[in-house]
Amino acid sequence: MNAINYLINDHLSHKKLLQDIDNSPQLFSALREELIHHVNVEETILYPNLLKIPKLEEEVRVAWEEHNLIMQLLQEMDDQAISKESWQSKLITLKKLILVHINDEEERLFPLIQSLASPAFLEDVGLQMSIQSQAVPTEEILYPDEPGSHKL
Ligand SMILES: [Fe+2]
Repeated sequence: MNAINYLINDHLSHKKLLQDIDNSPQLFSALREELIHHVNVEETILYPNLLKIPKLEEEVRVAWEEHNLIMQLLQEMDDQAISKESWQSKLITLKKLILVHINDEEERLFPLIQSLASPAFLEDVGLQMSIQSQAVPTEEILYPDEPGSHKL
């Protein structure tokens, strides 16, 4: 699958979970799992490939920083009970961060990628992403580094 289509499907699923989570807080674990895989696939496959294209460097580094914020918050939420007031505040913040990130990717990064990368490159990266997403169990990719130290 083309890398952009792969990610747009991911984003649709995140957005659906974000809509439903207010009425069903138990969906948090599904959202958490999706985010961890999404971040892993982008940081291990997509972003390193995109950094080979010099004109994409700044956008990729911004997206990478957004991931750091999302993962940091997710880790803080992991350490707290769902009923705590601050957990609910963190959930609202997490939603905002995710929507900003999705918007940045879809409005700025993806059109730029499509104008600079060949269809064959996008197919190849998409294939690598599909393989990676199935290859690594969530527990192994969760927080590989200290919070905020996702590598660039
Ligand atoms: Fe992302």
